[in-house]
Amino acid sequence: ASEHQHSMANTHQNGSMDHEQLVLKDNKGTNTLIFPAILKPDSEKGKNVEYSLTAQAGTTELFNGYETKTYGYNGNLLGPTLRLKEGQHVTIHLKNDLPEATTFHWHGLEVSGKADGGPHALIEPGEEKTIQFTVTQQAATLWYHPHPMGNTAQQVYKGLAGLLYIEDDNVEALNLPNDYGKNDFPIILQDRAFVEGKQLDYSKVANSDGTYGDTMMINGVINPVLKTDKKLVRLRILNGSNARNYNVHFDNDMAFTQIATDGGFLNKPQKMKELLLGAGERAEILVDLSKVKEKHVSLVNDQNVVLLPIDVSDTKSAVNASTKLNTIKVDKALLEQQPTKVVKMEGMRENVTINGKKFDEKRVDFTQKKGETEVWEIDNAITDEGGMIHPFHIHGTQFLVLSVNGEKPEPSLQGYKDTITLQPGQKARIAVKFPYEGMYMFHCHILEHEDNGMMGQIEVK
Ligand code: C2O
Ligand code: CU
Repeated sequence: ASEHQHSMANTHQNGSMDHEQLVLKDNKGTNTLIFPAILKPDSEKGKNVEYSLTAQAGTTELFNGYETKTYGYNGNLLGPTLRLKEGQHVTIHLKNDLPEATTFHWHGLEVSGKADGGPHALIEPGEEKTIQFTVTQQAATLWYHPHPMGNTAQQVYKGLAGLLYIEDDNVEALNLPNDYGKNDFPIILQDRAFVEGKQLDYSKVANSDGTYGDTMMINGVINPVLKTDKKLVRLRILNGSNARNYNVHFDNDMAFTQIATDGGFLNKPQKMKELLLGAGERAEILVDLSKVKEKHVSLVNDQNVVLLPIDVSDTKSAVNASTKLNTIKVDKALLEQQPTKVVKMEGMRENVTINGKKFDEKRVDFTQKKGETEVWEIDNAITDEGGMIHPFHIHGTQFLVLSVNGEKPEPSLQGYKDTITLQPGQKARIAVKFPYEGMYMFHCHILEHEDNGMMGQIEVK
């Protein structure tokens, strides 16, 4: 696998590489990209909505003539997109039809620990559970996936993941592409490695430092192509991979504008040419295809590996969009404060730790008062072994980044975040406030690191 150069973003610094990472092949663009269905409520009365989600096993014809064994929600692969609105009272009936225990975690959603779906919330095969919460956060592109201790990576790898959109009055008043699957495209980036019979056999490909694939799967389609017109399009990109980082940019080097981070809109669109997304992160970008002269442009990764080819037709339409999107204010006083919590991420492979420890469900690592803002310092430490990128995630909150290595965060980090991708040696200070009570996880979102115990828990009361 190593005649190609490895992307720096995916390579250990100084460290040995006894677990070789698979190199991603160009997406050939042979299949039309599809979009997850939008989940219809079982019932809707005023602000009360009810949904049902079942985790299930099945098969999917990812390659002509092959039935690949997969997992999905309400289907055989991935899950439907949930669309909730701020202020709604939501009931979700969860059911586990898998042959193994699972949980339903709402990544980025501000809910009580009871509804969060962390490793304490196991649902055994055949069991059902109902959760309820009120949506109290702003418009954002969130997602959901399983979180059973030691088994998250395998379940996500087999296909358990879905999108969760939050909408609010602000986004409804904005002028942005918002026609689902027409000019507002969900893009779930996942890399997969297929073994005998085109199977997703996790045990055959698992890597303790993050399981990589050589084949691009987007929205559950192998080698997909997006077909659209010369217009302004919105891509809601989720890095749903177990471990791979994507440094997204275009093969013709055109600029795009980022409008949203994990937890909502940036104050104003930010023009850029490339954007790094670690595992678990989301970004919404606007791409002006009206100016594209080529018939095809591609979203690419480092070394110009094709992630998503886009075929652009000749039909042209006008392009305009709101330029004032949000009103995020960073409390200046927080910039001066010393951190009250320090999270040191260290190690590789099975040796990964947080503050020198591995996860223990009986140990509470931190406590914090509900509704109070604290400054946390997240340190991606370099050790004798070296260092690598770790995407750091906290449950039940959207935080603001105060600084990275003492500097003002770059534009792509100036919105609400629930996951921050740190390079080895980087230290970030973040302002964290939990609006609800409960036990929440914080961890590296390389799913194999999470499963290996690079996780802690905080009790909020
Ligand atoms: Cu997306 Cu604790 O995870
Ligand atoms: Cu990690």
